[in-house]
Amino acid sequence: LIKFKGKINLMKKIKILAIETSCDETGAAILEGKSGSKNPRFKILANVVSSQIKIHALWGGVVPSLAKREHQANLIPVLKKTLKESNLLIFNSEFLIFKQIQSSKFKILNSILEREPELLKQFLKFIPAIAVPKIDAIAVTSGPGLEPALWTGVNFAKALALIWKKPLIAVNHMEGHIVSVLLKQNKIIKFPAIALLVSGGHTELVLIKNWLNYRIIGQTLDDAAGEAFDKVARLLGLPYPGGPALAKLAVKNKKVPDFKPRTPSAVRFPRPMINSRDFDFSFSGLKTAVLYLVRKLPELTPEIKAQICREFQQAVIDVLIAKTLKAVQKYKPKTVILGGGVAANQELRKQIKKELSKKFSKISLLLPEIKFTGDNAAMIAAAG
Ligand code: KG4
Ligand code: ZN
Repeated sequence: LIKFKGKINLMKKIKILAIETSCDETGAAILEGKSGSKNPRFKILANVVSSQIKIHALWGGVVPSLAKREHQANLIPVLKKTLKESNLLIFNSEFLIFKQIQSSKFKILNSILEREPELLKQFLKFIPAIAVPKIDAIAVTSGPGLEPALWTGVNFAKALALIWKKPLIAVNHMEGHIVSVLLKQNKIIKFPAIALLVSGGHTELVLIKNWLNYRIIGQTLDDAAGEAFDKVARLLGLPYPGGPALAKLAVKNKKVPDFKPRTPSAVRFPRPMINSRDFDFSFSGLKTAVLYLVRKLPELTPEIKAQICREFQQAVIDVLIAKTLKAVQKYKPKTVILGGGVAANQELRKQIKKELSKKFSKISLLLPEIKFTGDNAAMIAAAG
């Protein structure tokens, strides 16, 4: 729809605005990037995330139509906050507001945002009232994610690019999770690299030979790692989102002695596909194993619950680490990257660090800062 004819000089300092709406977080960020694509450096001018967790928690999971509605309502306030924090929010004089509204582009704008009437209303009120911000480009998550949610962000970014005459860059959400490790100052990715991406929708091992050169060498055949955490948490009656709640219980009750059930099977879950020859994963059997155990138990006491959380978490971690080490053995990367929402898991972070340094001491491991593990627009700006 929008073609950009200019060129961006990557060696110059550039400012990039990013929009992220792939799931249940409405995100906008502005990053200043420099030093080109070989060794990029980023300065985060603003990174705003508006979470919808409270709304979806009532339903025990993300409801796509509600997510879309919330993104529509939140995008303009989130953008406003992002521009303000970056010192790029300047209000127009009344004359300029009038001139902008007269613009012929508003017909196209109406068609871009015709499925987002609430957003269009806010857009028409806010955008003409402010000066075009001094940014060089706009990046937006174009997938993968929940389709209705993605569309709202993509259409919003298209509308901004049209009115502000900025180039628009479509970004893959998983690429965002990969480069999230660069948001920490002075980190560089040496190629080839292997990324273990663990989120609510995906579990992937990605071989990265160079920038923009990605190959998925393994992925989950059923549930994603985060999805398994969420489903097991639900089985145990833990609140949404289940991952952090389950992880907390697994740690908090470390002193709980090993549970000795009256039934013959102790709490021991399988490590699915840990010895398979490929780099794929499968987590749905693990969830079923938890379900069968819970059904058999006469009572789900807090001690048993903690024990289940600990064993389930360890089973997931064992498989993730075993497959990552196997990929390292085969592809001999210089860097290993961990990314995605599950990368917030402290045990996973600790154990992958320990195992990697034990067997491959020369390889550097890049972990994202906790605040950049979940969905955010800063990582999308960096990828853009
Ligand atoms: O990357 P993300 O924010 O969204 C997607 O792109 O899917 O990942 C969200 C997932 C959820 O399944 C959530 O339960 C999980 O990450 N998660 C965790 C932890 N924090 C978030 N899983 C295990 N341990 C955690 N500490
Ligand atoms: Zn994500």
